[in-house]
Amino acid sequence: MKIQKAKHTGFCFGVTRAIDLAEKAAAGRRELLETLGAIVHNRQVTEQLARRGIRVVKDIDDIKGKTVVVSSHGISPRRAEAIRSRCIDIIDTTCPFVHRAQLAARRLAKAGFYVVVYGEAEHPEVKGILGWAQDKGIATMDAGVVASLDPRPRRIGLLSQTTQAPEQFADFVRKLIDGAFTQNSELHIIDTICHDIRERQAEAVKLAGKVDLMLVVGGRNSANTNHLAQLCARLTETHLVETAAEIESSWLEGKQHIGIVSGASTDEATVSEVVTRLEEMSGRAS
Ligand code: F3S
Repeated sequence: MKIQKAKHTGFCFGVTRAIDLAEKAAAGRRELLETLGAIVHNRQVTEQLARRGIRVVKDIDDIKGKTVVVSSHGISPRRAEAIRSRCIDIIDTTCPFVHRAQLAARRLAKAGFYVVVYGEAEHPEVKGILGWAQDKGIATMDAGVVASLDPRPRRIGLLSQTTQAPEQFADFVRKLIDGAFTQNSELHIIDTICHDIRERQAEAVKLAGKVDLMLVVGGRNSANTNHLAQLCARLTETHLVETAAEIESSWLEGKQHIGIVSGASTDEATVSEVVTRLEEMSGRAS
């Protein structure tokens, strides 16, 4: 059985940076350090940080200490202000690529565009980006929602959640033009999809086209990991696993070639454990 791992696995630049910043802030601290929401959507990472004294709080009201870490997904200026107004310091680990999207949203809103964020409305990154547009817009993955707005906006500023698939974003743009445009409509698109995600998705699709089983390693609550799994599932049998222990022997029956990719918030050590486990299960323990 051939096991083939994609070139880009393990943490992306933004996740590595966020974890580093949080760990440095926690080192040598006497009091507990809190993060507003998980630093990254990965249970193992959250547990590892908890062992270093970094605890996740869900809401601003839950913050007990004098310093809070903002996750790689970022937050809206209004939430940041609400934190500071309580005399709580912020350690900001927002990924620079997410911040680029936040600034783009602010620019578009200031220029008078109705901001449409192509993404999951409930995802923290998307909520934060909309906040930078002073909530002058919506987040959706359904172009029909924009078409049914009343009044329908004439000037639309469009950007994307950083982890969305470029191909699906392009499809959304086509549908938006077909369904939501009226006379004199104006569309300003800013490409905010992360280059790391583009590379991972392109590699995953290429690999999924060659193998008879794909394993996508990452958190079930991670948007980019789920997108990878959806893209691969279109081409071959695909399973999303958080840890090596989840691999089922029945998946391997009759399989000759297995591909492995990982989400951007997946530790390389977890990917290596998956490879080792597959080697053991296929009788090729190294
Ligand atoms: Fe940033 Fe892209 Fe990672 S937006 S957090 S480098 S997936």
